[in-house]
Amino acid sequence: MKTFKTLEWIGDVDGCLELTDQRKLPSEFTAIRCRTVEQLYNAIKTLAVRGAPAIGVAAAFGVCLAAQETKNLELSDAKKQIENQIDYLASSRPTAVNLFWALERMKNKLSEIEEIADLQKSLLHEALKIHDEDIRMCSNIGINGEKFISEHSAILTHCNAGALATAGTGTALAPMFEAQKNGKNFKVYVDETRPLMQGARLTAWELKQSGIDVTLICDNMAGSLMKDKKIDAVIVGADRIASNGDTANKIGTYSLSVLAKAHDVPFYVAAPSTTFDLKIQTGSAIPIEQRSPDEVSNFMDAATAPEGIKIYNPAFDVTPAENITAIITEKGVIECPTKEKIEKLIKL
Ligand code: MRU
Repeated sequence: MKTFKTLEWIGDVDGCLELTDQRKLPSEFTAIRCRTVEQLYNAIKTLAVRGAPAIGVAAAFGVCLAAQETKNLELSDAKKQIENQIDYLASSRPTAVNLFWALERMKNKLSEIEEIADLQKSLLHEALKIHDEDIRMCSNIGINGEKFISEHSAILTHCNAGALATAGTGTALAPMFEAQKNGKNFKVYVDETRPLMQGARLTAWELKQSGIDVTLICDNMAGSLMKDKKIDAVIVGADRIASNGDTANKIGTYSLSVLAKAHDVPFYVAAPSTTFDLKIQTGSAIPIEQRSPDEVSNFMDAATAPEGIKIYNPAFDVTPAENITAIITEKGVIECPTKEKIEKLIKL
């Protein structure tokens, strides 16, 4: 059971967006309130809210904040101003397609509005729908993915694709919560996920809170565990899935997929249909976010590398479709993903 809200709209049309501040976890559980588009942009950029579905839902509410700033304008000027703010929000992070998907949907809703009096109400209604749909998609991913967690098995996951990364119970973690609900006994190994430790700080926190048997490992331990037959399956989330099934997810996911293949361990990706980008053919067209060198050279305000050292810090990598055993979505499971199978299920 989710015991916290990743993000919540507080109040009516003139309300604000409350976010669990994921930068502070696990040492502090606090919330921040975004009352302007700029505050939300910064919250997304600095990972106060993170995870592909969660940033999509947050950005949808960001459009409601943008609408609050257009009160004395004519409808056409208000629409122009909101469209500019949508472009601004879209520039916060480049990889997770859910951000662009949600903003596009809000833009379409905006284009349908005919009366200035309806503007704020219609946009808030649409953002709340996106929020509620995300909750439902997570629970269906859980139901569809639960069968891949066998009794007494051990699952490995990377980064955080849990409740914190969505409005609901998560993507990769949703099958685990469902298996727990069904009384299955299993354990989960969590990669710490350098450089920002989403696995250690967020996934380990979520699983421990829920009472699932969880063990934290450093990223470089996964191969050794697989070799010792300690891992029965890998389940990860996704930030963007190309039409052919190539999948961008947190840096390190690709290496895990190669290790899984070498050790004959099934490798599952769990993601809602909003994470598919059918406009791009393969993973090579997915933009990969490059983040600050400071994330690698410093940790908890202490230097972990010599000053001035050259640093490469891509936030995501791409796992080729052929390394993926199946993609678990809210609409069903795509075994050995191909362009044809993906189109058939996702366009349903
Ligand atoms: O940089 P982050 O923390 O936003 O990266 C998140 C991930 O890579 C997740 O695995 C992905 O967004 C799936 S979340 C359901």
